[in-house]
Amino acid sequence: MFKSIRDRLLLSYLLVLVAVLGSFALAVRITFARSLNEQLLARLEVLSRVATQELELEDDGVIEVDDEVIVSVNQAVQWFDVNGNLLGQQGDALLTLPFSPTEVLQRQRSPAPVQGITTVVNDYDTGQFIGYARVSESTVELNATLRRFDSGLGGGIALALGLSTLGGLWLTRQAMRPIEQSFAQLQRFTADASHELRSPLMAIRANAEVALKYPEAIRSGDRDKFTAIQSAATQMTALTEDLLLLARLDQTQILQMEAITLASLIEPLLTLYQTQADSKAIQLAVKLHDGDAVVNGDRIQLTRLLTNLLDNALRYTPEQGQILIQTEVKGEHIQIRVQDNGIGLTPEQQAQVFERFWQADQARTYQSKGAGLGLAIAQAIAHSHNGSLSVTSQLNQGACFTLKLPAQ
Ligand SMILES: Nc1ncnc2c1ncn2[C@@H]1O[C@H](COP(=O)(O)OP(=O)(O)OP(=O)(O)O)[C@@H](O)[C@H]1O
Ligand SMILES: [Mg+2]
Repeated sequence: MFKSIRDRLLLSYLLVLVAVLGSFALAVRITFARSLNEQLLARLEVLSRVATQELELEDDGVIEVDDEVIVSVNQAVQWFDVNGNLLGQQGDALLTLPFSPTEVLQRQRSPAPVQGITTVVNDYDTGQFIGYARVSESTVELNATLRRFDSGLGGGIALALGLSTLGGLWLTRQAMRPIEQSFAQLQRFTADASHELRSPLMAIRANAEVALKYPEAIRSGDRDKFTAIQSAATQMTALTEDLLLLARLDQTQILQMEAITLASLIEPLLTLYQTQADSKAIQLAVKLHDGDAVVNGDRIQLTRLLTNLLDNALRYTPEQGQILIQTEVKGEHIQIRVQDNGIGLTPEQQAQVFERFWQADQARTYQSKGAGLGLAIAQAIAHSHNGSLSVTSQLNQGACFTLKLPAQ
């Protein structure tokens, strides 16, 4: 139980951390990429300003490109006339995309990653529109820088997560320790208290019994009082036994494991409960899917689990009702279902039935003598066998309790 709480705590802690680190990394990465790109655009703008001055309108009306080399490594310039015809070019990082006067910014991935901008060229002297200059620069360097940055960031995050997992393990263990300790203390107290209560209760019961054996020696009228004492003591004995059992199951007390066939587990129960069923005219039926299927378990505890379920089914089913015990072998699991058509449970009640001391209100009006521990014990036994106990039900239609155990 504590392990799963610890795991959940650690998991939520790590999820929060991943979210925080992830958004932090994303923000840093976006800012970094944007600033790299802005630097590249600034360089292109400078180049573009120079490039526009290289295109000149000659006196004879011909447009010419200067021979002067203006590009640096990884850059290129292309000049176009007003109709988009190529007039001249310089440099290696050429855009191979078709020229488009309306697209100011152009990006390409292949054959080489290049980014470029196009500007309108007006003649220096006359201001007449004479063509376009398209300047570009290779983004190979930029992409490589980004990749290095990404792997650095990724490595950093992985390292931070690894260290945080270790730290988280230590922290959650530290945080859970006092809780585990006080829980263990509480269990020990319950176990000790119920154990210590046994003998005085036994003494009360035995004394009441002895007194009742000689009714003539009792003052008339006191007989009822002794009977009440005896029945209260019996009820308290059962209660302390249940509490003791629960406390021991919590402490994962070793079980007496043996291979048990389903038939040998369930058939004796039928004999045991037949009379009780008959007295309420309840039809008790058993359907074994595979009676020879074997579970590994503690026979006494599993019997106790099933008697708790049967006890409830008989108690919370009105006269003339039906109870069905069914088994089913499903691959790795064995299911034992105890189904009745009694008073049933609402969905809210189903969520609570396995809680200690919980009883539905209508159970009290059914004159339940119990304490509300039966199902808590049944579930604790199921868990100690690496199994599970669950309920499905509809109010006034009946309840079905399903025990799932690993098959041998
Ligand atoms: N088959 C059932 N049909 C309807 N309600 C049920 C059924 N089984 C259990 N319940 C409800 O769940 C409550 C808890 O059951 P649980 O067996 O834990 O306690 P109990 O039967 O009241 O007392 P105890 O078993 O300790 O003698 C019951 O009081 C009852 O309200
Ligand atoms: Mg019960």
